[in-house]
Amino acid sequence: MNVLGIETSCDETAAAVVAEGRLVRSSVVSSQIDLHARFGGVVPEIAGRAHVELLMPAVAEAMARAGIERPDAVAVTYGPGLVGSLLVGLSAAKGLAMAWRVPFVGVNHLEGHLFAPVIEEPGLPWPLVVLLVSGGHTLLVEAAAPGRYRLLGQTIDDAAGEAFDKVARYLGLGYPGGPAIDRVAREGDASAFSFPRAMLGEGYDFSFSGLKTSVVRTVERHPSASTPDVAAAFQEAVVDVLLTKAARAVRAVGAKGLCLGGGVAANSLLRRRAPEAVDVPTYLPSMAMCTDNAAMVAAAGTFRLAHDGPSPLSLAADPNLFLDFSEDFSEPEA
Ligand code: KG4
Ligand code: ZN
Repeated sequence: MNVLGIETSCDETAAAVVAEGRLVRSSVVSSQIDLHARFGGVVPEIAGRAHVELLMPAVAEAMARAGIERPDAVAVTYGPGLVGSLLVGLSAAKGLAMAWRVPFVGVNHLEGHLFAPVIEEPGLPWPLVVLLVSGGHTLLVEAAAPGRYRLLGQTIDDAAGEAFDKVARYLGLGYPGGPAIDRVAREGDASAFSFPRAMLGEGYDFSFSGLKTSVVRTVERHPSASTPDVAAAFQEAVVDVLLTKAARAVRAVGAKGLCLGGGVAANSLLRRRAPEAVDVPTYLPSMAMCTDNAAMVAAAGTFRLAHDGPSPLSLAADPNLFLDFSEDFSEPEA
């Protein structure tokens, strides 16, 4: 069964064809980073308009590369994300499903990210803990099996990637900030400053806005501080908090593996430290699977279709969609 996946929740316009829920036949991603870079972040109006221009060419290319003229179903992200961007993909997916007379299925973008490791690692051991860290989300999830999740914790303010982007902008390193900080931090001394690790000892939630403020205060107090040192110390604090909580979650739920996902999972320090932080295998997706793509949406859509059946064509975009908790989970100890 070939499923066409469509993803337009933020600033990547993506289409992909996935067979049997796991085999990526094609995956096309048109990034809009260049359009947004001069504004220092994603501009929703520009994103929506760019999706309109880029989506159908991406779909045509995904279908051509997969060598098919009609998929067996169409899956699309319907939330969370920017409403104007979601609507572009959702409307196109409904229209295509109607024209082709195939089932249509809506996918939660966060569940899409949770399917990225399923595509790349066929022999995943369950249960897993997944640390999903991007510009929009910071989630710690227990996954008992595909489709069975429990949200352990999330950020109470900025997402991890957002913290990278804001600190990079403050340090004059440009957008997107994560790769820039990652790069300059290699030249810096992470022990030059000690930034706060908020909520380190308690629970599974995260807070990064105080860390950002602390960076600003430190630079104000030490105007001649070396940017690489500040970047390295900031990165160290973020990675420390992420992995301390992920490791605690792995122990508490008795997970057999730790998966990373989202754009921040590209961070070189995080990737290097993750295997040292836990004594279970770590699964670090390829870059293309960490960041937003439509293959993960097609994979999650295949699962949802088999599990719950098609979605109604009246399905609305939901900018604030949550990840559903599954029933039958016992509380892990914090
Ligand atoms: O998953 P993603 O491509 O888009 C969404 O936010 O959904 O994630 C983008 C985020 C940005 O905040 C970017 O700064 C961050 O991922 N990022 C990184 C690195 N590469 C991308 N953060 C830290 N280190 C990196 N190497
Ligand atoms: Zn995402």
